[in-house]
Amino acid sequence: MKKTNVIGSLFPLLKLYPWAIPTIIIIGILSSFSEGLGISLFIPLLQSLSENNGQLDSSNFLIRSLNNLFVNFSPDSRLLIIALSILASIILKNGLAYSNAVLFSWLNCRIGHQLRSQIFRQLLNVSYSFLEVSESGKLMNTLTNETWRTSQALSVLVGLTIITCTIIVYTILLLLISWQMTLLVAICMVLISFIIQLLTRQINTVGKQAVQVNSNLANRMWEGFAGMKVIRTFGREEYEQKRFDEASNQVRHIFLKLDIFSRVVAPLSEVLSTILLLIILVIALLQDRSALPTLLTFIFILYRLQPQVKMLDGARVELIALKSAVDDVISLLDCSDKPYIRSGSIPFSNLTQRIYLESVGFYYNTSENPAIKDMSLSIPAGKTTAIVGPSGAGKSTLIGLICRFYDVTSGEIYIDKYPLRELNLNDWRNQIAIVSQDVHMFSTTVFDNIAYGRLEATEQEIIAAAKLANAHNFIIQLPQGYDTKVGERGMRLSGGQKQRIALARAIVRNPQILILDEATNALDSISEHLIQEALNTLSQNRTVIVIAHRLSTIEKADQIIVLNEGQVVEQGNLQQLLQLNGLFAHLYNLQHRNN
Ligand SMILES: Nc1ncnc2c1ncn2[C@@H]1O[C@H](COP(=O)(O)OP(=O)(O)OP(=O)(O)O)[C@@H](O)[C@H]1O
Ligand SMILES: [Mg+2]
Repeated sequence: MKKTNVIGSLFPLLKLYPWAIPTIIIIGILSSFSEGLGISLFIPLLQSLSENNGQLDSSNFLIRSLNNLFVNFSPDSRLLIIALSILASIILKNGLAYSNAVLFSWLNCRIGHQLRSQIFRQLLNVSYSFLEVSESGKLMNTLTNETWRTSQALSVLVGLTIITCTIIVYTILLLLISWQMTLLVAICMVLISFIIQLLTRQINTVGKQAVQVNSNLANRMWEGFAGMKVIRTFGREEYEQKRFDEASNQVRHIFLKLDIFSRVVAPLSEVLSTILLLIILVIALLQDRSALPTLLTFIFILYRLQPQVKMLDGARVELIALKSAVDDVISLLDCSDKPYIRSGSIPFSNLTQRIYLESVGFYYNTSENPAIKDMSLSIPAGKTTAIVGPSGAGKSTLIGLICRFYDVTSGEIYIDKYPLRELNLNDWRNQIAIVSQDVHMFSTTVFDNIAYGRLEATEQEIIAAAKLANAHNFIIQLPQGYDTKVGERGMRLSGGQKQRIALARAIVRNPQILILDEATNALDSISEHLIQEALNTLSQNRTVIVIAHRLSTIEKADQIIVLNEGQVVEQGNLQQLLQLNGLFAHLYNLQHRNN
């Protein structure tokens, strides 16, 4: 990612609501202006109180104009009018500030929501290969924590802008009262801010470490949950606890460090500015004692300015600490450096002839051996094609290419006469249902899990699908039948039960192309036999691709393709392959001898 400052990083977010930021800034300026006015009115107020009323400082433009405002009032009512004007300005200031805060909250919540939503969309759309090389914990951390920190950065940035406006308004007032004193103050302020700057460099470094340790911790949490079973079976509880504690401890350590650095800024600048204030008071009074009302107002404005400057420094520091969160979010949202599977434009409705692979090659990683090499094969429409081969032969990869989870590295896949990459991706995937090796259950009811295949399916259709998948009988024995919640990731179901629900999910979709990747490997032979029969009905007038290690399940296939090391080694029906007496015959005989 390009190196930019944090404002540059936040800019794309601000562009989402182009009117909002200028509005917030204008209201911010108006609000500071009314406060400034309120404070300046103290000069005529104090002068009305003093005895030599109206005679002082007439050379000063600001003081003259303020006095002129009230010159027509009698001395008695003048005091009241000025006091009321001060009150009105302060009420106006606070009303404006409050509406600005509400407007900003609105903007911030909107942007937070949009960020989360955009990241989720990105995760849904980015090529699968990107997700495989990213750590899930880090992605989760970006989605949950860093998006919050990014909207926080945004609020700090807007706060910063408003503070800057206020400071400008106050500075103008100060200049109007006395440019000499203002100059002196400015020089000292530059010095103070230089000291603060030295600190912020440190904070930037620690901020980066904070993102790192946070995502480490998220990774540990994620892996702890996902691998709970493996952890327990291997008795690695202590080991995992230790790793988790280490990660958590690092978070504690870095965030403490971050706080230690960032919190020192506020007290430090307060002490420094108080010293400054005292110096001014002493110098000015030594020179001219009669200018007390003006001087008091000057000091008062300065006093109000001081927390603003402090806040300015604080906000800058905070923004720098949040920069890495913003970068993290923006870089995940950045589309230019990530692979995407782009949909083609040709609509697709029917597979009429075949799926044809022409010299297809595919690498998961250019550094590794190809998972598929120069593969040419044809999968006829309306027929059942079985794919067999040893583990790691490339069977699931082939399915991934056909479903376009990945794009081929070389060669081309044709659907009838069109290259797959030119077809509308949604149209294509709508015609496919896949029961894959690793079944995922959503944490909702059995019914909804099946209906995931086709959201508008009716109850009858769901039950019919479950019956075909030989799942109905065990489902109605569950505590709430079809309404039973399957716990997180389907923990409460056995492997075979999950497979049958996944099968029902595919059946209810009623796809043109049904793909079963080891869809029955966790079933006992009776269930498998029942499903086999169901498949015989299902496979009529449907293109079925079935991968199975148990060769008995594929005997009826119209065509069997044997893969080894990413290549087609044999092809034909059962009889032909047995006669070839090659790899398939070898595997087949091996299994039959064992049975
Ligand atoms: N996501 C991935 N990233 C990198 N390499 C992968 C990935 N998935 C599979 N591979 C590699 O690609 C090759 C083919 O894997 P594939 O999953 O297609 O095998 P398979 O024939 O389905 O095996 P099995 O019968 O065990 O499911 C293997 O060498 C594997 O290591
Ligand atoms: Mg596989």
